[in-house]
Amino acid sequence: MSLNLAHNTAWEHPQTVRLFANKPPDERMVAYLSGASPASRVLDLGCAGGRNAYWLARQGFDLYALDASWAMVEHTRNRLRPYLGQAVLQRVLLGRMDDLGVFRCCTFDTVLAFGVLHFAQSRAEFDRALKEITRVTKLGGRLLLSLHSPRSNLDGAVLRLTEEPSVYLRASGRKQVMLEPAQLDQWVGEWGFEPLAPTDEITTPTERGWRTTVRGQYVLTP
Ligand SMILES: C[S@@+](CC[C@H](N)C(=O)[O-])C[C@H]1O[C@@H](n2cnc3c(N)ncnc32)[C@H](O)[C@@H]1O
Repeated sequence: MSLNLAHNTAWEHPQTVRLFANKPPDERMVAYLSGASPASRVLDLGCAGGRNAYWLARQGFDLYALDASWAMVEHTRNRLRPYLGQAVLQRVLLGRMDDLGVFRCCTFDTVLAFGVLHFAQSRAEFDRALKEITRVTKLGGRLLLSLHSPRSNLDGAVLRLTEEPSVYLRASGRKQVMLEPAQLDQWVGEWGFEPLAPTDEITTPTERGWRTTVRGQYVLTP
């Protein structure tokens, strides 16, 4: 099967799968969930090669993971099979972040969206994803996310803004939504998420430039 819903074949390359799979689990997620009840239901959106899903499955969390790349889904399923058995087929799903129709309303205690929301091609797609995240999160549930700031220099060149505010054009020709911390707080705040901690940012070198990542932790309020 070679279905790829991300419309970006780069995610299908075995090298890319390995690159993301071999990263250690997200430190903030580990710190945040280490004290949580394993009965917590967690959704890992854009799970890639499963670095976080693997940690969650090993800890015994009630885990679901979703990615738009078939290669990523397949890799994560294989990795989690020793812990979840055949249930991986229901737990690790091929799908898009802006259509979470497989999940009922108010299902998750925690939603993780690390490095995925910025792949929205427009504010409309970004908002559809936020609407879906809001729908599937329990009231009082948490959203941990990270995305690229427009101060990133990912391709070794100044980013080009498109005609739509906060939507930038990458060297690959693909668009990305990129937000400053205050903008991110505002955009997710419009869906009822309030910051649990100050939204911060971290800058790391990339092959051709640098990446500034904005990191937020939110709680869903009525
Ligand atoms: C940078 S990686 C994410 C990294 C992963 N969350 C982690 O922390 O290691 C981006 C992932 O998002 C997936 N992706 C891209 N667009 C998506 C979409 N619209 N819906 C769901 N997943 C998407 C890609 O296939 C890729 O696996």
